[in-house]
Amino acid sequence: MLTVHQTPDVTLTARASRDIEADLLILPIVENAALADEPELDTASGGEVEAARARGEITGKAFSVFVTTLRGWKASRVALVGVGSGNDVSADRLRRAATTGALAARHRRLPRIAIVHRPDTGVAAAVAAQVMAEGAVLANFDGAAYKTADPPRVWLETVQLKVGGESADLTRAAERGRVLGECTNLSRSLSNEPGNVLTPRVFAERASAIATDAGLSVEIFDEARIADLKMGLLLGVARGSREPPRLVVLRYEPPAGKGRSSGTDGAPQPVLGLIGKGVTFDTGGISIKPSDNMDKMKDDMSGGAAVVCAMAAIARLQAPVRCVAVIPMVENMPDGLAAKPGDVLTSAEGKTVEVLNTDAEGRLILGDAVWYARQLGATHLVDVATLTGACVVALGRTATGLFGTPDAWVNRVKQASERAGERSWPMPVFDDYKELFKSEIADFANTGGRAGGAITAALFIKEFTGGLPWVHLDIAGTAWAEQATPYQPTGATGTGVRTLAELALDPTPFGV
Ligand code: BES
Ligand code: MN
Ligand code: ZN
Repeated sequence: MLTVHQTPDVTLTARASRDIEADLLILPIVENAALADEPELDTASGGEVEAARARGEITGKAFSVFVTTLRGWKASRVALVGVGSGNDVSADRLRRAATTGALAARHRRLPRIAIVHRPDTGVAAAVAAQVMAEGAVLANFDGAAYKTADPPRVWLETVQLKVGGESADLTRAAERGRVLGECTNLSRSLSNEPGNVLTPRVFAERASAIATDAGLSVEIFDEARIADLKMGLLLGVARGSREPPRLVVLRYEPPAGKGRSSGTDGAPQPVLGLIGKGVTFDTGGISIKPSDNMDKMKDDMSGGAAVVCAMAAIARLQAPVRCVAVIPMVENMPDGLAAKPGDVLTSAEGKTVEVLNTDAEGRLILGDAVWYARQLGATHLVDVATLTGACVVALGRTATGLFGTPDAWVNRVKQASERAGERSWPMPVFDDYKELFKSEIADFANTGGRAGGAITAALFIKEFTGGLPWVHLDIAGTAWAEQATPYQPTGATGTGVRTLAELALDPTPFGV
């Protein structure tokens, strides 16, 4: 594999635009806004900026890009990147505009960029510092890890951010954005890996290296240890493959004095439990999938990758809450010993499941993993999974399916996802839907038919949460970009990393 991402240096600058030394000066601009605060820009461009505006080439429409050369300024070129019209401008627009501008720099083989935040976006300086850093780092990613003949890539080396000041807080915000961008890229690189490379054993090794680097404590459970724990659901899926399963457990403790609850007030410390689906390839098993698009099922470990990389961000940014993560890793294959439709499996918790469809494997492995997160002391659960095609039907590729209970916990995760620029949208988890996956012979079945397919999958997982506050994020539609946009090439998106990290970094104590 070639290097597919690199993290540039990110610094703040308070210089006037004309004095910022860079190969490309990036200005995110609001639609129809006058550049009144940059009166010399047009002159420096030799009149190009006003001429382009007059002929309608510069519009400020979201993610439009205009590049021209500059004379007499320290930067040799400027890029005006649109963020759209006033009301629609948001921190996420700014993040995406930063990626768009940074990609324009890489395409022109310009490794040193500066991004100048203009206050008419209405985005606060600290938020701007974070999202512009994130956006720039996200641009330093390539999907073509196995192409041997491409010309050498240009990576961004330095990113200067101008947000209207230099302070410890702003520096921290930029650093936070840099780490969140880097951890998103790590997750994307894992999800893009083909199934023959990233087997459960290799995934566990890579996860362990990422986590160890970040200072997390790591345990890898092999198939014997998984059998000791009686994880019949995970083992039931693993039986169909020659590749043995793994279960990765990560732990994070906030540094002394940074924890949310000192313990002196008697309140028990919350423990955030993160669980991610790590199916390194999903053929469907005996209920085998059609061959069209089956190749995409190499990304069926995206939830697991998101959890690993979010934990790395949480540790590096020293979030104020204890976290445990459980990632079951397995390949869903139709080998001779594979689970068959009609088989009954017994979960580690003791609940029995009739496997009506071996392609509904994600909820099986998550059942055992969620139970194990509780054994590790988790008090608040979030699972992330490319779980159902039904979720893609319901929400398309724009929003992640958001399920869970109670509402306060669900809303907290939703807000984190908004801060992260990873949109999610609520779906119901009414008990009535449980009727749909009743089994004649076991506690329940692993499928509930086509109607409400994303919801019955979520409710299946809920059976293993022991009544704890729980959120399920179905990223089946959002983990993979089928269509390129100005800020996201086709391939893995790394979605989930920043939502989980923002959730853990939230300084307000968990209320539920
Ligand atoms: N990994 C798939 C879900 C998926 C489908 C993710 C499309 C991304 C794109 C999951 O394991 C699966 O196969 N789900 C089945 C469930 C069904 C058999 C009840 C599905 O959605 O078809
Ligand atoms: Mn499946
Ligand atoms: Zn799957």
